[in-house]
Amino acid sequence: MVYTGSRRIKTFVKGLDEQIESGIPVGTVNLISGTPGSMKSSLAYSILYHNAVKIGLNGLYISMEQDVRSLTEQMKRLGMKEKTDKLLVEDYTSLDKKLRSKKFQKLKFEHDWISRIKTYIESLEKQSFDLMVLDSLDALYALTDLENPRTELYHFFKTLRETEATSFLISEMTQNTDKFSKYGVEEFLCDGIIHLDFKRTGTILSRLERFIGIVKLRNTAYSTQYFPLQHGPDGFTILTREDLEL
Ligand SMILES: Nc1ncnc2c1ncn2[C@@H]1O[C@H](COP(=O)(O)OP(=O)(O)OP(=O)(O)O)[C@@H](O)[C@H]1O
Ligand SMILES: [Mg+2]
Repeated sequence: MVYTGSRRIKTFVKGLDEQIESGIPVGTVNLISGTPGSMKSSLAYSILYHNAVKIGLNGLYISMEQDVRSLTEQMKRLGMKEKTDKLLVEDYTSLDKKLRSKKFQKLKFEHDWISRIKTYIESLEKQSFDLMVLDSLDALYALTDLENPRTELYHFFKTLRETEATSFLISEMTQNTDKFSKYGVEEFLCDGIIHLDFKRTGTILSRLERFIGIVKLRNTAYSTQYFPLQHGPDGFTILTREDLEL
């Protein structure tokens, strides 16, 4: 791990880090929850990308929904174009291939994907990654028959914590609910919840505005305000009360 001089991971969302004591505590497991299209993947990728490019932290992005090409193309369109060997993106196909390779032959071949991801994460050398994203929990659930979600998720979160990396698990929400995860237990097991939300504003020509809120962040004094979230050429920015009063 690259020593950052801090026990916090910056989100590099302009304005947000100041609201959460400079960043997300190192080694924690966090949910990034939102409805479809709320920029969950873009935010998660942006955190890994900027930490890789700006301060050399190693990131692993596991994309179970989009393939590597389509994900990186999308991120390039958002301005995240710089080549870096500090950010590894794996998808369903590349991981499946890896897990069938010689290195894993001695291990029991697991069919459900929660166990497979666990096996893969456990096989990584400690501290080989500073940051990890799993996109998404729901894709994993679709590929796994969870007999006892509470127990199995407890062990899954434990494995993530034992890596000592700071992880972000993407979780899909349905419209008009405050359920940040499928089973509910994830909300208690995690250390932080970042909520990406939309609101329809205006009456005749209404449009969707994006918001970001920190719902939970252990060991941190954070603002409970929902901030307007924008994406421009320099990345994500929040608007604070002061910005809006100017
Ligand atoms: N500058 C921008 N500002 C706002 N939205 C943008 C901008 N650039 C692209 N988008 C759009 O935001 C959409 C959502 O992004 P993203 O894929 O990160 O969301 P998501 O929450 O991961 O979606 P899904 O639920 O499909 O996984 C993309 O389709 C993209 O076209
Ligand atoms: Mg996504």
